[in-house]
Amino acid sequence: MNNNLKYIDEIDIKGKRVLMRVDFNVPLDENKNITDDTRIRSVLPTINYALDENAMVILSSHLGRPKGKRVPEMSLAPVAKRLARLLEKEVVLAPDCVGEETGKIVANMKPGDVVLLENLRFRPEEEKNDDAFGRQLGELADVYIDDAFAVAHRAHASNVAITKHVKEYGAGFLMKKELTYFSMAMEKPVRPLVAIIGGKKVSDKVGILLSLCDRVDKLIIGGAMALTFFKSLGYEIGNSFCETEALENAREVIDKARQKHIKLFMPVDFVVADKFSPSAETKVVTYQEIPKDWMALDIGPATVTLFTEAIQNAKTIIWNGPMGVFEIDAFSRGTFAMVTSVASTYAMTIVGGGDTDVAIHRAGEYAKMSYISTGGGAFLEILKGNELPGIAALRRKKMAVAAS
Ligand code: 3PG
Repeated sequence: MNNNLKYIDEIDIKGKRVLMRVDFNVPLDENKNITDDTRIRSVLPTINYALDENAMVILSSHLGRPKGKRVPEMSLAPVAKRLARLLEKEVVLAPDCVGEETGKIVANMKPGDVVLLENLRFRPEEEKNDDAFGRQLGELADVYIDDAFAVAHRAHASNVAITKHVKEYGAGFLMKKELTYFSMAMEKPVRPLVAIIGGKKVSDKVGILLSLCDRVDKLIIGGAMALTFFKSLGYEIGNSFCETEALENAREVIDKARQKHIKLFMPVDFVVADKFSPSAETKVVTYQEIPKDWMALDIGPATVTLFTEAIQNAKTIIWNGPMGVFEIDAFSRGTFAMVTSVASTYAMTIVGGGDTDVAIHRAGEYAKMSYISTGGGAFLEILKGNELPGIAALRRKKMAVAAS
């Protein structure tokens, strides 16, 4: 999967201007404090490598979805501050990502300097993959390095168009790590390979589930989406969330699993509640006994045992999506129990998708997973077996270097 990519340590960047696309799309609280800086820490090895090579490091990122407008609340200022603390050096925040003033700041850089460009998505051209904008970004640097795996599923100017306008380009160490783990899981997995897929909507993940049927030995389905599966099989699911428009999708997945002789595991019991509330009355029932006016909000204890046994002999586990509404204590046990079960296997475990990541952090089992991807949407796209546009752009052999 990472074949044919050139990495930063294969490119001469000594003393050069290196424009690095990173994903600093970090969560902020209402006071604009960063609540999780994992994405910043994840690219420190690449930044530090460039600094050790005496490069001038220009960082570019988006934050949130400002839709092409300058939204002060989505400034990268808090990121510049946190990064400066982590690098223990000054990080200059440019007022924009391109333009005269930014150009001057970049032109005045010295080896070892770090400049963070302001939010790329303040410019509408970014999400349009605008070629002229890609060229403007490219003109800031001698070398372009993409270390933003989490945006590789987007074809935007800062990760796709730009590659046509720089003399040299390649990928960073985070990209390498992500692609290496995905390659181990998806291309040549040590078997048995088990996928655990949870979350709410079947429609969001049908492509992934179908693609996984071609690869895995066992497929475990949990979370609210399991209820849509049960409905598709004709079971009564009470007031549980059901995606009626995806019943056909669910049947398609069941049929494909059968046809491919994949062992498909579904919950055998649920924690049901009389309302969607932390103060709801709850009980555990089997999947055939969900009461008419109740809703299933978590997998039950028998399901945890079943799923735990199913992953016991796994050599590779891919996990995306929680098993229940883990944000509410009463419905969090299934997800946290599965975190413990996955953490205690001897398998190589690759986890991704915002919510799963949060659950693992909360359970304190972060260090026991082999790899937690920084990608949300990108992780899901790769599970579908699709080549990501951001990776495809880096793979191009010939460069159409713009006349400068
Ligand atoms: C993410 O958080 O998954 C990436 O930064 C991509 O963000 P987007 O979904 O707004 O494109």
